[in-house]
Amino acid sequence: MDRSVRSHDSMIQRQDDCGTMKKINSRKSAQAKAPREVGIGLVGAGFMGRIHANAWRQAPLFFNLKSPPTLTAVASGHAKESNEFAAKWGVSKASPSWERLIKDPKVALVDVCVPNYLHAAVSIAALKAGKHVACEKPLANTITQARDMALAALGAKKGVRTFVWFNYRRCPAVSLMRELIHQGRLGRIRHIRAQYLQDWGRASTPHSWRFDGALAGSGAHGDLNAHIVDMARFVTGDEIDQVCGAMEAQFIQERAAVTASSKNLGLGAQKSKRGAQQQASTVDDAFLFLARMHNGAVASFEASRMATGNKNANRMEVNGEFGSVKFDFERMNELQWWDDTLPAREQGWSRILCTDPSHPYAGHFWPPGHVLGYEHAFISMAADICAVLAGGEPEQPLADFVDAYRTQQVLEAAIISAREQCWIRTDTI
Ligand SMILES: NC(=O)c1ccc[n+]([C@@H]2O[C@H](COP(=O)([O-])OP(=O)(O)OC[C@H]3O[C@@H](n4cnc5c(N)ncnc54)[C@H](O)[C@@H]3O)[C@@H](O)[C@H]2O)c1
Repeated sequence: MDRSVRSHDSMIQRQDDCGTMKKINSRKSAQAKAPREVGIGLVGAGFMGRIHANAWRQAPLFFNLKSPPTLTAVASGHAKESNEFAAKWGVSKASPSWERLIKDPKVALVDVCVPNYLHAAVSIAALKAGKHVACEKPLANTITQARDMALAALGAKKGVRTFVWFNYRRCPAVSLMRELIHQGRLGRIRHIRAQYLQDWGRASTPHSWRFDGALAGSGAHGDLNAHIVDMARFVTGDEIDQVCGAMEAQFIQERAAVTASSKNLGLGAQKSKRGAQQQASTVDDAFLFLARMHNGAVASFEASRMATGNKNANRMEVNGEFGSVKFDFERMNELQWWDDTLPAREQGWSRILCTDPSHPYAGHFWPPGHVLGYEHAFISMAADICAVLAGGEPEQPLADFVDAYRTQQVLEAAIISAREQCWIRTDTI
């Protein structure tokens, strides 16, 4: 085995973080007092702005919440977009400015749904103003910003909470996967095989903030590997100790420039026009790496926006000594299970349709067999956040900024491994 693990001092400029890690490791716990309702301030009104607005609206209809959310304000950077969004989604106030939204005394939680480069600035300002923060993933553009966010969370006023929208944790099949692993039904874990494959990044997709390294931080890596690294940590309860064999690929160097008329930056929704002006793409289109878990399992991660034919194939397979489980978001209601404790003549992959009331979250929605969709994991997450803010427990663990910082350490280790072609220990990040 290649043990040439080495540190990477040259790659990241940062403060001495011995003290930082101590603080991050000894995070404080604080008891929240149940507020009557939680005023939500949405920053961003695009894809995630809509899915979050829907989640906050739906959560009290499906869950019994002591402190239900209310859509108090939205700020999207543009007055017209903010006003239209507020009118459509029933948000009380609209403004172009997130700075103004944070100052609103009725906003208790700032929900960060903006391009990645803004996550740190908005979140840290909100925490300083004593607001709870729910931030989209990846936590930040850089490991330094991510560390600043984790420290701001730890230094926030007592009772102030942070959350990161790792929504896939709340797909009933993913939560069930975690429960089976935690109950020891798979025994010791040997392999984790994770892929997150999409194909909207094809050459004809016009430029957007997602292809600009300064705005997005990275491409498929931060966007998609962030989810599957979090999922691997969530379902196994284990940490990634070392990373190696990382490879980043950029297939497309230039894309049609964004014009006022092509401003809707949906995931490949539009095609670029022939002869349009070109703009440099500065992010990876695909990113693969290998990892070793603390408990000895080996893992592989593969993210791509150019895996033709895959739309949102967020897949994970976990092999243990007594069985295996498999998940594919494109069949999100199903968990595949191989039970190796059965007599050999009865063994085979079984398909569990995770819609029974005994399955995580499923009982909040529809009768068995009446399947859930993409939005339900966000609704369940909004409900869990409200439960925590009312002093209760989430049904499944939520990621906070410190937890998401650990995921970001793995992503950073993979970037360094790709560029220096070596093993990287995540605790050196
Ligand atoms: N959890 C998931 O599965 C998932 C899926 C997609 C995107 N995301 C994440 O959500 C975030 C937003 O992505 P999106 O797909 O909604 O992007 P989007 O381009 O659809 O929307 C971005 C929004 O941010 C607004 N904005 C830009 N600059 C702003 C500013 N200075 N002040 C206020 N608003 C501003 C834009 O006007 C727009 O409303 C990203 O961090 C992305 O990684 C997460």
